[in-house]
Amino acid sequence: MGKVYVFDHPLIQHKVSLMRMKTTTVKEFRELATEVAMLMGFEATRDLPLEEVEIETPICKTKTKMLKGEDVAIVPILRAGLGFVDGMLSLIPNAKVGHVGLYRDPETHQPVEYYCKLPTDIEHRKIFVVDPMLATGGSASAAIDFIKKRGGKDITFMCLIAAPEGIEALQKAHPDVDIYIAAKDDHLNEDAYIVPGLGDAGDRLYGTK
Ligand code: PRP
Ligand code: URA
Repeated sequence: MGKVYVFDHPLIQHKVSLMRMKTTTVKEFRELATEVAMLMGFEATRDLPLEEVEIETPICKTKTKMLKGEDVAIVPILRAGLGFVDGMLSLIPNAKVGHVGLYRDPETHQPVEYYCKLPTDIEHRKIFVVDPMLATGGSASAAIDFIKKRGGKDITFMCLIAAPEGIEALQKAHPDVDIYIAAKDDHLNEDAYIVPGLGDAGDRLYGTK
């Protein structure tokens, strides 16, 4: 079974609390999303492989460690996952970025696919699927299905806020995927929104409501 990491770092907790507040503006929300993605990405990339290289400092030649290859892919689930991309890219500027477009049908809450474009060498990459919300888990599970169908193997899921129902569903659908979350909330309401949550992440990020 994949592991579930819940971040308890005070900076992450503080920034997520600011994102939850309904008075937080679109500009502030977007900036905070980038900052939290960077803080979470720092820890989620802990296992990236290193290799020993020889370099020359102003003093002498030495052996040191650097990232092995440029083999990371960041895959945001559209729309709201886009809010995580800049923060992750600031850590791993050479990562390739794929996109999976999904929206939840408002009646059935089932994910509907409208776009999928991934790096052609996705099967060789360490993949970070990013989306602020894990509610029913339908969107994350479907996105990871698409990625696996196209050859993706080494997949980690990162989100801001998760409901227990979403964590369970994603673990059941993809037991090989590790899940990184900034906060685990109480439950889903009758519209499948996370309680207390932060509302509709896409709308908060893009000001569409
Ligand atoms: C939100 C969110 C996730 C999904 C989570 O996207 O960004 O993708 O809901 O819900 P689930 O776990 O129940 O599937 P939404 O469908 O609102 O689309 P949007 O990003 O285009 O607004
Ligand atoms: N999607 C969101 O944007 N927010 C939720 O609370 C649930 C799904």
